[in-house]
Amino acid sequence: MDSARPHERPTAFDRMLIPVQRWIWSDADRRVQKLLRFSETETDGGRDILRAAEVTSDPLLRRLYLEHAIDEFRHGVLFRHRAAALLKVSPCRSNPGFQGDWLTPGGHGLDDLQVDGESDSDMLAFLHLSEKAAASRFTVYRDVMQHDPPTRAVFEEILHDETFHMNYTLTQLARVEPKRHRRHLWRARLSRLWKVYLRLATGLAGILGSMLLAIQYFVLLPPFAWLAKRAARRELSGWTIVSPGASESLDRQY
Ligand SMILES: [Fe+2]
Ligand SMILES: [Fe+2]
Repeated sequence: MDSARPHERPTAFDRMLIPVQRWIWSDADRRVQKLLRFSETETDGGRDILRAAEVTSDPLLRRLYLEHAIDEFRHGVLFRHRAAALLKVSPCRSNPGFQGDWLTPGGHGLDDLQVDGESDSDMLAFLHLSEKAAASRFTVYRDVMQHDPPTRAVFEEILHDETFHMNYTLTQLARVEPKRHRRHLWRARLSRLWKVYLRLATGLAGILGSMLLAIQYFVLLPPFAWLAKRAARRELSGWTIVSPGASESLDRQY
């Protein structure tokens, strides 16, 4: 597909993370793992957009979604082939260490896409924002890949398509909802923000939960363990004689 407009500039947040991205992508093993994960994300996204093509009643959107899905499948293949080429040059370690996945997401965030039950306008607004995020991130990934020209070329090629996806979804949203397309965009933006908040809150809850459990383990548990050991030391070993009359009650054990 041809891009209709020049590439978007990366967002301020993505630009701020450029030094971190440079470090993350500098390691060959990490690069392979990331490319493989990106490949999965693109292929899954393509599958969802294919479903969107099936359910829409708009013939033009169906054609565009089909082309879009084919692009995403192709991106998946491009990432996988590049990862395979890198693996041939240097086999991967079993554990490539820190991946920084939350800093280098696979681009779209299309994993949040729920096709069935969505209107065309909601779908287009969601796709537009997802593709815009992908274009921003892939611009950064391309720019930090000076040390690996073939991988850089893959990002460059994919970025070209993502920019087209970003633009056609906005154009089509304006066609489908000429008066209310901005409102749909804001709603999609808020929905993405809410999902980001939920993701962060879930991550934070996991960290806090682990900290609380560690505190309980190291602070609360030792006194009980000490008391249990002391009580065990006082216990007489072996059989003990029960005094006569102590076991006559049928209401209690001793
Ligand atoms: Fe893509
Ligand atoms: Fe895309």
